[in-house]
This record gives sequence, structure tokens and C-alpha cells, in this order.
Amino acid sequence: MTQAIIFDLDGVIVSTDHYHYLAWKQIADREGVPFDENRNVLLRGVSREESLEILLEQASRPYSAEEKKKLAEEKNGIYRKLLQELTPADILPGVVDWIERAKAKGLRTAIGSSSKNTDFILERIGLSDEFDAVVTGADVTHSKPAPDIFLLAAERLGISPGACLVVEDAPAGIQAAKAAGMQSLGVGEFVKEVGADRWALTLGEADL
Ligand code: BG6
Ligand code: MG
Repeated sequence: MTQAIIFDLDGVIVSTDHYHYLAWKQIADREGVPFDENRNVLLRGVSREESLEILLEQASRPYSAEEKKKLAEEKNGIYRKLLQELTPADILPGVVDWIERAKAKGLRTAIGSSSKNTDFILERIGLSDEFDAVVTGADVTHSKPAPDIFLLAAERLGISPGACLVVEDAPAGIQAAKAAGMQSLGVGEFVKEVGADRWALTLGEADL
């Protein structure tokens, strides 16, 4: 039986997934690296550094560690500027309802995100105090698709992995949930066929 819900952040709670894309696209265009929404699916859910590695697989020249560090910082700068626009109105449909229903049912809730900008985003959208635990990319060495973020969230909640439901919009996130031995609800078009236990187009269309 489900005792806890672990929500991914970008693309589940708020549509910052699009801001990630816009920021990477700006870097890719300037560097002359082919990049589009299809390619971007591979970056969803994975860390900033790993995202850059995937993006640069299409580059026509090798990049030094120093250059990569700079590009990752630059991307984060562009992304952070976009985040300044966020308000509670950007919370995705169904999210507040799910949090409320989870609480009413006595379920524990957590955020499990690869993003090191998690705290800032939760603050911007006014959800900082809504979750029993928040685990981010800053808390683990191995980001999604490794199970570490979700396992740490379960540990902090005091709930066994098998009793946790992960809500994810990224293939790497569904992979991480499975590796953690958790149930999964895929949300959105990018996880329609990646083997989540359940799927819905938006959280608003899914039953808790
Ligand atoms: C995930 C996003 O939530 O966080 C990825 O889906 C992103 O696209 C990752 O690369 C890391 O985010 P940040 O904010 O630390 O660069
Ligand atoms: Mg996501």
C-alpha cells in the first residue's frame, strides 16, 4: 500500500523543464551544436553536468574540462534568470490538489529532484513548507537514473521504498524509481512508453 508520494520537481510541480530546454538551446546554438526538443528528452531528469555531456555528444570538437565547467555555469545563469519570472501561478494543474489529498489520506510527501535549484524554485512558487522531505541533486553523488535521490527521500520520510509512489515526467526518473523498487506514475508525453506503472497526461488527470 502507498504510504508516501515522492514528487519530481521540474516538469511535475512546475514547468521549469521548458526553461532548462531554453537555456541549453541558447548554449547549443551559440556553440553550433545540433539540439532540439527531441534530443532534450535525454537531458530530462539528469544532472546539469551529465546534461552537458549528452548535449556535447553532438559537438564537432572536443571540449576541455575547463570549458565544460564554464558552459555549465553559463547555462545555470541563463536558467536562473528565467526562474526569476516564476510565481505560484506557475504550479502545474493538479499539484496542489494532490498535495492536499495526500495529506488528508495521511500520506507522507517529498520532493526528489536532481536540481540544485530546488530550494529556490520551491520558494518562488510558495511551496517551501509543503513537503515532509526535500532531496535534491546537492544531496547525492549519483543523480537520476540512479535510485539514490528517491532512496534518500524514502529514508528521510521513514517509509520503505516499496511503499513509495514516485511521480515523474522524465524517462531517467522512471528508471530511477524502478531501480529504487518504487511504484511510479508517469506524467506527460515524454514518459508515455517507458514502463511506468501508471501514466497520465497531467497530474490533474490522475487519481490518487
Ligand atoms: C532536473 C531536470 O530536475 O534537474 C534536468 O529535469 C536538470 O533537466 C537537473 O538538468 C539539474 O538541474 P539544475 O537546476 O541543478 O541545473
Ligand atoms: Mg522532471
